[in-house]
Formats: sequence, C-alpha cells, structure tokens
Amino acid sequence: MTLHTEFFDIHPRNHSWVDIYHLMNSIVQPRPIAWISSVSDTGTFNLAPFSYFNICSMNPPIISNSIFYNRDGSEKDTLKNIKATGKYVVGTVSFLAAEKANLSSAPYDSGVSEFDEAKVRPILRGPGEPPFISESPVQLVCELNQTILLGQGAGVGTLVLGNVKQIHLSTQLKDIEWQKGILPERMGNVGRMGADFYAKTSDVFRMPRATVNK
Ligand SMILES: Cc1cc2nc3c(=O)[nH]c(=O)nc-3n(C[C@H](O)[C@H](O)[C@H](O)COP(=O)(O)O)c2cc1C
Repeated sequence: MTLHTEFFDIHPRNHSWVDIYHLMNSIVQPRPIAWISSVSDTGTFNLAPFSYFNICSMNPPIISNSIFYNRDGSEKDTLKNIKATGKYVVGTVSFLAAEKANLSSAPYDSGVSEFDEAKVRPILRGPGEPPFISESPVQLVCELNQTILLGQGAGVGTLVLGNVKQIHLSTQLKDIEWQKGILPERMGNVGRMGADFYAKTSDVFRMPRATVNK
C-alpha cells in the first residue's frame, strides 16, 4: 500500500474559483447524477443533469442538489422552475442514457425543451406536473423542502432540498429485494468524475459492513 506522508497546500482564496471548481470536481468523485425534469410556470418542460446530488435524510427521505448560477449570473431554468412550482422529478442516468443526459445539459433558452433537443420522450403526468423521463428506470417525485443560497456571485450554489414523495420503479426492476434494494447491474448508473470523465458502475465489489468484535 502507498502511504502519503508529504503534502503541498492549495488555498482556495489564492486561485480563481474556476480552477478550484475543476480541482474539487476531480477530487469529489465519482458523483451520482440526478437527471432533473421540471416544468416552468408557462408549461415548458425542462430536463438537465446535476451531479452535486445526494441523499441527506431518510425518515422521511430527502435528497439534495446544488444548482449553480449560470456563468452570466442568471439562474438556471431548473432552479427557476423548482422555485416557481415546488415540484420536480429526478431520474437516474444509466450508461445507455449518458449521451442524452449530456445533450440535455446544453444551455438552451428557457423556452426550449431539452426533452425535444435530446430526443428524450417525456411521460406526461397531467397539467403543471413535471413529466417522467422515459430513459430512466427510476423516477423520484420530489416536492421542494427548501432552498439555501450559499453566497453571492459567480460559482455560488443554491442547495435544493427535496422531499421524495413517491418512488416509481420501472416494471423491469420489479424483483427488488427489501433490505438490499436494486442490484447495481440492474441500475447501470454512471458517475461523474473530473473534467469530461465519467465512470461506469459495472466493476463493483462486495464488502460486508464492519462490526466490532466483542
Ligand atoms: C453530468 C453533468 C452534471 C452536472 N451537474 C451540475 C450540478 O450539479 N450543478 C449545476 O449547477 N450544474 C450542473 N451541470 C450543468 C447543467 O446541467 C447545465 O448548466 C444545464 O444547462 C442547466 O440547465 P437548465 O438551465 O435547463 O436548468 C452538470 C452538467 C453535466 C453534463
């Protein structure tokens, strides 16, 4: 095993936020990707991937996403929509859907639906409801819990906390085992790494949880 005993220091305040952003992205990885479906108050469907994504409470289930301002200081459509409607759906991103998820990240105007641009079929759920994402085997139906703006200016994120109200699983995942969940190969998720690298989850290993010997 390689031991690390000598280090050099980087102080974020001595670098541009963009340099620190790229460095942090290459350190905190692989990150899960939330494919967020939302709808504007005028009814345009929106779809975009977000990898500052995690579970932050379980009883009841709450998930977190951090959504940055655009580089021009404007709010991303996803954040605008979630604030306006309080509703969004999070789909998972498998290797088969990775390219479309990436296509849906392009900075389209607010009036353009990324469902159309990335050729992802929306599964309609009624007026004012964000659609399901037909390329995702799992849809988490979320209700906004709160947003927390983490500062001012470029590079600042807004933490979005959402209550998971319903979990919709594709019938192709029907045989889930309670206490174990869905097998990783059935999900086939990809993870976001630094720069333009992604990870597949096909190379997994098992390790039983450690216990204290008495
Ligand atoms: C895989 C991936 C993950 C991303 N993760 C985030 C993220 O966590 N936070 C964020 O603000 N932008 C993230 N982005 C960029 C957004 O997807 C992008 O800004 C998108 O245009 C936002 O769309 P919207 O304006 O329709 O909401 C990510 C992009 C990709 C390709």
